[in-house]
Amino acid sequence: MVKCSGIRKARLHFRLHRERKESIMKIGIIVHSHTGNTYSVAQRLKEELLAAGHALSLEKVIAVNDEQPDVSKIQLKETPDASEYDALIFGAPVRGFSLSPVMKSYLSQIVSLKGKKIVCYVTEYFPYPWMGGNRAVDQMKKLCETKGTEVFETRVINWSNRQREKKITNMVEELSKLF
Ligand SMILES: Cc1cc2nc3c(=O)[nH]c(=O)nc-3n(C[C@H](O)[C@H](O)[C@H](O)COP(=O)(O)O)c2cc1C
Repeated sequence: MVKCSGIRKARLHFRLHRERKESIMKIGIIVHSHTGNTYSVAQRLKEELLAAGHALSLEKVIAVNDEQPDVSKIQLKETPDASEYDALIFGAPVRGFSLSPVMKSYLSQIVSLKGKKIVCYVTEYFPYPWMGGNRAVDQMKKLCETKGTEVFETRVINWSNRQREKKITNMVEELSKLF
């Protein structure tokens, strides 16, 4: 057996620590969620990413007038600072076959997402993604792209689907592997 001196052990320990630190990302999960569905998915993502050793924050976008359908009239009360993170997961509900106006308003006011790894998901009630989910997540992706970044992955969760729990578990596992 090769013996390791104290100094070599310390160097090895330092190198492993540095390599681990370099692969850890500061991830922000930023969601709009009125009735809690989108937020519950975010909590599961948070648990999975924390278990993988990432630094993580889960934050909510909150508006004074959450149910206002006209995006130009949305008044945001809580606007998490996206600039703090290396990577971001944005989540929001579908409203009227579109992205929720609150998330539209929030994404619009972000100055830049340049250099950040981005993933987007939406939750919808109707059973098929073409019943609003695909359109909403596409709007979300495009809004992020106007801020100078590419979106790595998008997902739609159908809340009325009987396989919902299994689908969320799969999504959480798959998305977590991207970071
Ligand atoms: C005003 C309003 C409009 C909605 N429009 C749609 C829709 O077009 N398509 C759909 O599938 N679900 C629609 N839903 C259902 C929500 O998208 C769904 O319940 C979502 O999971 C709610 O997320 P939250 O609990 O995070 O707020 C709508 C809900 C509300 C309140």
